[in-house]
Amino acid sequence: MNAARLALFGCGAVLMGALAAKANAGNALLASPIYGVTIPEGYRSWQLIAPAQEAPPLDELRATLGNRIAIRAYEKGKLPFPDGTVLVKLAWKHTPSPEFAPASIPGAATTVQVMVKDSRRYAATGGWGFGRFVNGKPVDEAQHQTCWSCHQSRASAHDFVFTRYAP
Ligand code: HEC
Repeated sequence: MNAARLALFGCGAVLMGALAAKANAGNALLASPIYGVTIPEGYRSWQLIAPAQEAPPLDELRATLGNRIAIRAYEKGKLPFPDGTVLVKLAWKHTPSPEFAPASIPGAATTVQVMVKDSRRYAATGGWGFGRFVNGKPVDEAQHQTCWSCHQSRASAHDFVFTRYAP
């Protein structure tokens, strides 16, 4: 490699470094407070674990999806869920179908919620990191303080995960 090429290569490396740093700074803004959880890439095409519904006033339709590690753990009935498990819960306003009112359809998206299993990083919260996002942005710290206490007190018999695999 001659000197000119080497200089060019050096500049490229610096530029790449700067771009990577910028991407990370962007991620920090999109990470949940307390836990640093982000919305996982490609989650929308993950496999369905189960749908759910919440009564008014929230009045939502929901679906929990899992990555491959999560699905394998469900198939094997493996508890606790292994590190690398990621669960994503989607939620929408419960809306009557415009074509046939007794049927329900998902209306506006309300939240995307994420749980990530990393038993070391999240040792203080049962191995789970939590993130709640509205329009792709994490909600405030106060809301994130509620996640662990509810999952801990009500779902401890199932590794702090409510959702069971729907038949
Ligand atoms: C008051 C109780 C309560 C609180 C607080 C709560 N959850 Fe949940 N969560 C549930 C219930 C119940 C389910 C089961 C699915 C459903 O009914 O929507 C659930 C399901 C989930 C799931 C799917 C996996 C599972 O456990 O079934 C994720 C992901 C999740 N919650 C994330 C969060 C995050 C992030 C927060 C905090 C911002 C949070 N939850 C706060 C009760 C709670």
